[in-house]
Amino acid sequence: MAREGCCRCCFSFIITSGFTALFLWLSLRVNEPKCSIDSFYVPAFNKSTNSQNNRTIVFMVKFENGNKDKGIRYDTVNLTFGIFVDPNTTRPIGNTTIPEFYQGYGKKAKKWGSIDAHGVNRTLVNGKSYFRVDFTTSVKYKIILWFTKRHHLWGGANVEINDSGEKTPRKGIRLGSSRPKIESGVPKNRGWYCALLGLLFGFIFT
Ligand SMILES: *[C@@H]1O[C@H](CO)[C@@H](O)[C@H](O)[C@H]1NC(C)=O
Ligand SMILES: *[C@@H]1O[C@H](CO)[C@@H](O)[C@H](O)[C@H]1NC(C)=O
Ligand SMILES: *[C@@H]1O[C@H](CO)[C@@H](O)[C@H](O)[C@H]1NC(C)=O
Ligand SMILES: *[C@@H]1O[C@H](CO)[C@@H](O)[C@H](O)[C@H]1NC(C)=O
Ligand SMILES: *[C@@H]1O[C@H](CO)[C@@H](O)[C@H](O)[C@H]1NC(C)=O
Ligand SMILES: *[C@@H]1O[C@H](CO)[C@@H](O)[C@H](O)[C@H]1NC(C)=O
Ligand SMILES: *[C@@H]1O[C@H](CO)[C@@H](O)[C@H](O)[C@H]1NC(C)=O
Repeated sequence: MAREGCCRCCFSFIITSGFTALFLWLSLRVNEPKCSIDSFYVPAFNKSTNSQNNRTIVFMVKFENGNKDKGIRYDTVNLTFGIFVDPNTTRPIGNTTIPEFYQGYGKKAKKWGSIDAHGVNRTLVNGKSYFRVDFTTSVKYKIILWFTKRHHLWGGANVEINDSGEKTPRKGIRLGSSRPKIESGVPKNRGWYCALLGLLFGFIFT
């Protein structure tokens, strides 16, 4: 009789803690934002205009918060730009930052910016022009009312520029874990998004 009671108690304890763990997991689980280069224009490379001396590069980075019930607080985003001088080497041409911002549930943020690039002349690699864009930042996720600890995020992409001076293809390029390397003329950008999660989420939930 005593043993039976104990079993029942033990069983309900397991069920309850199971549900509690499941609930905690569901509410604490976070998805990293998706970051992509959605626009990139190099006026100096536009063949239909005579602006070889224009050092401007205009770009747009899109941040997508895929979490339906968590906000994201971004620290200052550091962006660095380079141009490929051969398939394995980039030369830095400039850098800039995007000021810190907060992004609500399921929102997309389009951040336009420009840099004054130094030494951008048309350098061809396998007959094409390529740029390299890398970013680093940290984010905190807002769960109900409180923020998680900081999670470091970074990524990069190789961007092909055509004779209009525009990124090609038009589709956004994921700033993922691709390496700064042009492989047989085909930039590799399909690498998985690379994020270092903090101890808490990294160890328990991924
Ligand atoms: C390239 O230059 C031409 C001529 O100035 C202009 O009409 C066109 O809009 C430019 N291309 C882009 C992508 O801005
Ligand atoms: C460079 O090109 C951009 C975009 O076409 C334009 O807004 C800017 O005024 C140009 N700058 C110079 C110095 O020509
Ligand atoms: C780039 O690196 C590869 C090996 O990773 C090498 O075979 C190739 O010669 C290098 N190309 C240049 C232009 O340095
Ligand atoms: C960013 O650009 C500034 C000015 O051009 C330069 O002094 C600095 O070293 C650059 N930083 C990085 C990380 O490239
Ligand atoms: C491009 O610019 C770099 C640095 O300013 C220079 O070393 C190189 O010779 C230039 N290339 C051409 C083709 O003008
Ligand atoms: C961004 O750059 C600033 C100034 O160079 C630096 O203090 C900061 O630590 C950088 N942030 C990241 C996430 O690398
Ligand atoms: C360059 O790519 C853009 C799309 O990103 C396209 O609209 C444009 O027609 C292309 N220009 C050339 C000369 O291929």
